[in-house]
Amino acid sequence: MSRPKFVAGNWKMYTTRAGAVDLAAAVAKGLPAGGKTRVAVCPPFPWLTAVADALKGTPVAVGAQNCHFEKEGAFTGETAPGMILDAGCQYVIIGHSERRHGFGETDGLLNKKTKAALAAGLSVIFCVGELLAEREASQTEKVLETQLTHGLADLSAAQLEKVVVAYEPVWAIGTGKVATTEQAQAAHAFIRQKIAGQFGEKAAAGLLIQYGGSVKPDNAAALLHQPDVDGALVGGASLKADTFLAIVAAGG
Ligand code: G3P
Repeated sequence: MSRPKFVAGNWKMYTTRAGAVDLAAAVAKGLPAGGKTRVAVCPPFPWLTAVADALKGTPVAVGAQNCHFEKEGAFTGETAPGMILDAGCQYVIIGHSERRHGFGETDGLLNKKTKAALAAGLSVIFCVGELLAEREASQTEKVLETQLTHGLADLSAAQLEKVVVAYEPVWAIGTGKVATTEQAQAAHAFIRQKIAGQFGEKAAAGLLIQYGGSVKPDNAAALLHQPDVDGALVGGASLKADTFLAIVAAGG
């Protein structure tokens, strides 16, 4: 099955308001002519509306980097999925390793967030990935299996159509140590096989699986040409329009 490529920029806790709007505009302006790769940017919360406004009428979608699982309530400092949608977003990143390991987000919590985001009408970029110690202990597949089984529990195959899985080996994030094409392909093939068991062959064949972790213009093409790598979730290199656009161009 041929799947579209999808490249998203995760701006994490970087950019100013003006810088975010300028970056978004530069990405939209610089999209490769005739390119088929889908593109999204995920700015910090305070800039979502400004970036969504700047990107209105362009093919670049906007995503948030986290959400709460309740629709509203006394949850100081939190953001409901419906608010993210209302701010002009189409996507939300859930389960990034910086949330899992820096903020103690569990598979159960991430499952609640995923279900709430889908119910609100958002698409979800659901992140999975192993720590270095887990890879070295040959636990990668076990970790991915657990994260997918519990994180995507109770979803239907129809709901899965609005989920993108991002494989981000934690040891490759922000370290400059990119996974080899073989490591990435093997993990992606495993994820697809696991999804086939959980949701059926058709859902697995249509699932977009992004790779994330030190993706740069010079390694993007090789990664994105692996048969089960359908795009990239880009951190550091998404903060400059030219490097991000070069990665987008590598997707075709
Ligand atoms: O979500 C993307 C991210 O975690 C990868 O970051 O800086 O290694 O591209 P980076």
